[in-house]
Amino acid sequence: MQAPGRVNLIGEHIDYCGGHVLPVALGLRCAAAVAAGAGMLRVHAVDLGDAWECAAGVEPRSMPRPAPGTWRSYAAGVVSLIAEAAGGPIPAADIFVASDVPRGSGLSSSAAFEVSLAGAVLAAMGGAIAPSRVAALCRRAEHEFAGVPCGIMDQAVAALGRTGHAMLLDCVAFEAGAAAGHTDGVRHVPLPGAREATLLIVDTGVRHALAGGEYARRRAACESAARKLGVTALCRAPLDAIARARLTDEETRCATHAIGEDRRTLEAAAALGAGELSRLGVLMIESHESLRDVYRVSCPELDSVVDAARGVPGVFGARMTGGGFGGCAIVLARAGAAEAAIGVVIAAFRTRFSRDCAVLAGW
Ligand code: GLA
Repeated sequence: MQAPGRVNLIGEHIDYCGGHVLPVALGLRCAAAVAAGAGMLRVHAVDLGDAWECAAGVEPRSMPRPAPGTWRSYAAGVVSLIAEAAGGPIPAADIFVASDVPRGSGLSSSAAFEVSLAGAVLAAMGGAIAPSRVAALCRRAEHEFAGVPCGIMDQAVAALGRTGHAMLLDCVAFEAGAAAGHTDGVRHVPLPGAREATLLIVDTGVRHALAGGEYARRRAACESAARKLGVTALCRAPLDAIARARLTDEETRCATHAIGEDRRTLEAAAALGAGELSRLGVLMIESHESLRDVYRVSCPELDSVVDAARGVPGVFGARMTGGGFGGCAIVLARAGAAEAAIGVVIAAFRTRFSRDCAVLAGW
């Protein structure tokens, strides 16, 4: 049972606003293996050298709940909700989970953990659940057990992403059918070949904690903006309605970013499908600027990577990816320009922050 980490090409902070997002499943993965056990279910986090256990044979709802935000709360949430959905008590098993998705870097290590663990729990129970329903249950685990009010993007791409493709996800259509196992709202768009373009992932080393306030604050402001605009999905509000509604400064920022980012994402998916990487790159830069200046979820380290990369000949575009406030930026470059881009980004980062950022190849 394996599930990938992801980068998001574009469509940031709009999965919880009823928008479209365009994540890419990475080669970095989390894997979970099951061994038969007796009396207990144990989840071993191999990378952490830690384990969480609960009694087997009990009803999922009566399981003890670890403190929200800890890795154990993620494990308990997935075990409880998946076992309940599969109709059984907690199975007896030892589940070993190991991952090469770096933690806290915005590459969605938690969704990869959740979805691979879900697969292992189902294997231990001899059950099966459609991948889109697994995604919906894992997202519920984040909300109800881990205390993270995330959108559906990360779990959806961890469960349904395809190698060599970006996944255009219409979050409204997907969420309407996911709990019933449908995959409406999912479209796989082929990525350019490695000879044509390279996606670099630059880890700033700044660790973010989504549970830590800012994400929840943005989300609440988006919801109140949607209420005032009289829509359920903020991304679907007409742009000219913003001026007429009595929005606070923060709500205006939310609506402006959400509506613009949704439009950019649809255009970016079309550009990617048509092989127009220069256009895609321009949209990535616009997305970053909106996240930096309007939505305000970037940070100096992410901005430094984007600013350095965009000046390199052969670089199509760059932007922060994921929740922001640290983590990773992505750089889309013509294959032959990747090396120069890496050199320039690393040098600029070192000059400004007196330390190194790490660069990984995304595809
Ligand atoms: C985190 C959340 C996602 C999404 C992104 C921002 O990764 O888990 O649901 O909101 O931030 O696009």
